[in-house]
Amino acid sequence: MKTIIINGANGYVASNFIYKLLELKYKVIALVRPGVKSSPKERMEEALTEINDGAYVNTTNLKVFAYSLLHKDFLIPSKELEKIFSGDVDYFHFAASLKFDLKSKDEIFGTNVGGTENSLNVFSKYATENSRFFFIGTAYSCGRFTGRFEEKFYPNEGIENFRNYYEQSKRIAENIVKEHIEKDAMNGHVIRLSQVVGDNKTGVTKTDYGIFDFAKRMHSLAFRHPNQTVRVHVSPTSTQNLIPIDTVVNYLIRTVEVKYVPTIMNFIAKNQIKNIHIIKSISELLPINIVPERQLEREEMNALERIIAAGMTFTENYIDTNLLFDTKNLDNILMAAGHEVSENSVYKMLEYFIENLAAQKEKGAMISAL
Ligand SMILES: NC(=O)c1ccc[n+]([C@@H]2O[C@H](COP(=O)([O-])OP(=O)(O)OC[C@H]3O[C@@H](n4cnc5c(N)ncnc54)[C@H](OP(=O)(O)O)[C@@H]3O)[C@@H](O)[C@H]2O)c1
Repeated sequence: MKTIIINGANGYVASNFIYKLLELKYKVIALVRPGVKSSPKERMEEALTEINDGAYVNTTNLKVFAYSLLHKDFLIPSKELEKIFSGDVDYFHFAASLKFDLKSKDEIFGTNVGGTENSLNVFSKYATENSRFFFIGTAYSCGRFTGRFEEKFYPNEGIENFRNYYEQSKRIAENIVKEHIEKDAMNGHVIRLSQVVGDNKTGVTKTDYGIFDFAKRMHSLAFRHPNQTVRVHVSPTSTQNLIPIDTVVNYLIRTVEVKYVPTIMNFIAKNQIKNIHIIKSISELLPINIVPERQLEREEMNALERIIAAGMTFTENYIDTNLLFDTKNLDNILMAAGHEVSENSVYKMLEYFIENLAAQKEKGAMISAL
């Protein structure tokens, strides 16, 4: 079994991937940065336990290393790196800052552009000729593109063509991968994910990204101001491209198994989910009535609606999107199509997520009462 090296290994998508790799008996090397109070190994094990609701995870084939994404050789001694990269490996670059706010611009570019460049340098220096580098990108690096976003490289563009610096930084990072492929004949690949949600079969949802971030804000508001009707600046008929974590993991496993992998693949959902369905589900699950309105100016909002709008400065950029992605390359490596989210499975995910939030709130209240 080949060795799979993964950075940003304790993150949501990477830890789900690692769990499956371990189940399939792959050898996994996880690169995790140390936490304030816990070691990289503890952080990795915590992430694996969290995604499995505390179930036992066999970590016999897992080795965890501390690394520093932005430093030469990741601050790992070269003898150790030679061992880590011995033999033909698949290396997955997951580490990224998923922030969007203007204040975090330096962190976003430092991590997503500088971190990718450094990761490529380490890979080029230590990996064998047949090893493969997989950059985990985002389908939203399409920016404000209209038309079908193909599985090919697009040139770097100014910030006016993107919704935020995160999207722009991930586009720039893709083009750094491209340079390494062209100049060093590196086996480099880009995998673009759309919005990754929970498990399509079980509804288990351990991410608070995208629509779940919105649900979390609504949860907090509904408990502070129950039974209110609030309007939100969202186009009801626009859609979200949601890809379940189990489908992402299956596609990633297939990528590892297949010898010839296309350079770029869009891991996206073919059926999109309308905003109105997401909003209706949240309204059903919480004591709040949310009304989406495509045209809603700040001056027309009441105090509560303004609070919501302030928390949506990022999400707002995605309230009116109907993106189209090509998947020919992805379809070429798949044996069977992945499971698509349905209105029903998204409802189940939101239900799990909101119940979990309520349980956490209760636990917090009990602890503070002690
Ligand atoms: N989730 C989605 O819907 C989605 C959609 C499109 C693309 N993606 C891409 O998928 C990848 C994984 O996303 P995710 O949702 O799993 O994110 P996540 O849970 O936030 O994980 C991000 C990982 O990157 C690490 N990281 C961040 N900054 C770092 C730094 N300066 N040095 C070292 N490590 C650093 C984090 O480590 P710490 O825990 O130490 O911070 C964490 O392990 C990212 O590349 C993201 O752009 C995700």
